[in-house]
Amino acid sequence: MKLSYEQEVQSRKTFAIISHPDAGKTTLTEKLLYFGGAIREAGTVKGRKNSKHAMSDWMEIEKQRGISVTSSVMEFQYKDFHVNILDTPGHEDFSEDTYRTLTAADSATMLIDVAKGVEAQTIKLFKVCSMRGIPIFTFINKLDRQGKDPFELMEELEDVLGIRSYPMNWPIGMGQDFRAVYDRHQKRLELYNHNEPSKITIIEVTGCDDPLIDEVINDESLVNQFREEMELLDVAGDQFEIELINTGKLTPIFFGSAISNFGVQTFLDHFLKMAPSPTARKSTEGIVNPLDQNFSGFIFKIQANMNPAHRDRIAFLRITSGIYKKGMNVNHVRIGKPLRLAQPTQFLAQSRNAVEEAYAGDIIGLFDPGTFRIGDTLVENGSFEFEEMPHFSPEHFCVISVKDALKHKSYEKGLRQLTEEGAIQLFQTYQKVVEQQIVGVVGVLQFEVLEHRLKAEYKVDIRLERLPFSYARWVSGDKKDLDAFIRTQRNLAKDRDDRLVVLFENDYQMRTAQDKYPNIKFYENSFIK
Ligand code: G4P
Repeated sequence: MKLSYEQEVQSRKTFAIISHPDAGKTTLTEKLLYFGGAIREAGTVKGRKNSKHAMSDWMEIEKQRGISVTSSVMEFQYKDFHVNILDTPGHEDFSEDTYRTLTAADSATMLIDVAKGVEAQTIKLFKVCSMRGIPIFTFINKLDRQGKDPFELMEELEDVLGIRSYPMNWPIGMGQDFRAVYDRHQKRLELYNHNEPSKITIIEVTGCDDPLIDEVINDESLVNQFREEMELLDVAGDQFEIELINTGKLTPIFFGSAISNFGVQTFLDHFLKMAPSPTARKSTEGIVNPLDQNFSGFIFKIQANMNPAHRDRIAFLRITSGIYKKGMNVNHVRIGKPLRLAQPTQFLAQSRNAVEEAYAGDIIGLFDPGTFRIGDTLVENGSFEFEEMPHFSPEHFCVISVKDALKHKSYEKGLRQLTEEGAIQLFQTYQKVVEQQIVGVVGVLQFEVLEHRLKAEYKVDIRLERLPFSYARWVSGDKKDLDAFIRTQRNLAKDRDDRLVVLFENDYQMRTAQDKYPNIKFYENSFIK
């Protein structure tokens, strides 16, 4: 049955999975793709770790392909939904791209290892999601292993991330004693079978007092503990409030085990019902509604050399409204020129397919001969632009210079290109007798990528000298306060758009400056409000 335009858009669910390495993101993604019929068996998502590359081989592959060999977007159909999962590279290839990808998502799934709780990378990614106020769903993974107490995890979410939570289901036992999860909404038990975990038995009950629970779990102390915990949740826990979920203030929690495929489908079903369809976006001419049929979108990521044989670049465009139709003409707003979208691609697990039609919420890949910058807007009719794409604080810094001064022109060109692609951030020292260029990156592998690409694509050798900084903070304040601040700071720089940035070596240094200058505002990204 042909869907209406509105139905097509409403059926889209575009989200990212945020987690710390090893929490099980690849495993969960594989299971989701499997349910969507996008792969036939789990274990085929990417040339992942289980292909047991030595780290050096892996890095060589990363380098040859520019930055990442993972698939960036995976789309599939599941029941009535058209699902787009945005990949957020996490291991060696963690970079600013990972943050920017989140700007293209309408919601996020936060994956947490039950034994480890909230970890460093999850905190960073969470902050970006919370800055945008998008809904965040939590999957607590690896329940087949002993981990932290669920209440302790909920407390951690609140203390570390500042988000309240509502468990959608609740585990009975854990690790070797793991017996089941109880679905609070559908009032049913999903029994865990240790010998055949993916074989889930579902038992409908009338509530947590149902004697059937005693019968099937057959362990008095586990059932008693479960009932006490449920009572505590009902009395002292948060209520389920969809409004708070929609604004990212309350996260629904699901417990499960991705590797055993336990709780994954239940999660997917609930998640897809609750997660938002494509949302409206701000532009220079007001809010752009996804149901507006005028095609528009923005570039959130540029990936170089996905295919080493072609040395091409792919710009990823998030469609914000309207329909993409093959060969359509659009306005490239920044440069004010028309552009024909000839052969965009869509992404399915590892393969790329030519796309004939795509809707608001979808991601398409555009061949990029060097015409796009991160944050560019394309629109069918009109000339508005979407909000500027923020820069996020790099964590590693180097002074950069060209070895052979005669190659200066190619060096500048290469640096400009890589900055526009968003692979690196470039800063200029401020108030130094000799001006220096500083490169900042989020993931340290980016320095190698930078060196490799300047050499391979621009025939330029560079010198990189590590600096001891770990944070960049964009600053603003009254002229008087700012002048006083500038006079006392040694590690100031300007970003590409001439915005003032201060670099800090550590958290202590940063806090001291913040305490000393309460009238100065420090921002973790360039989105100065
Ligand atoms: P990532 O993408 O988040 O880095 O994690 P990935 O899925 O690669 O999973 C990290 C490790 O955790 C893998 O083990 C994976 O098998 C394991 N894992 C994922 N989900 C679960 C779960 O529900 N329970 C348990 N017990 N383990 C889980 P590995 O030995 O590091 O790698 P592999 O050789 O299995 O690929």
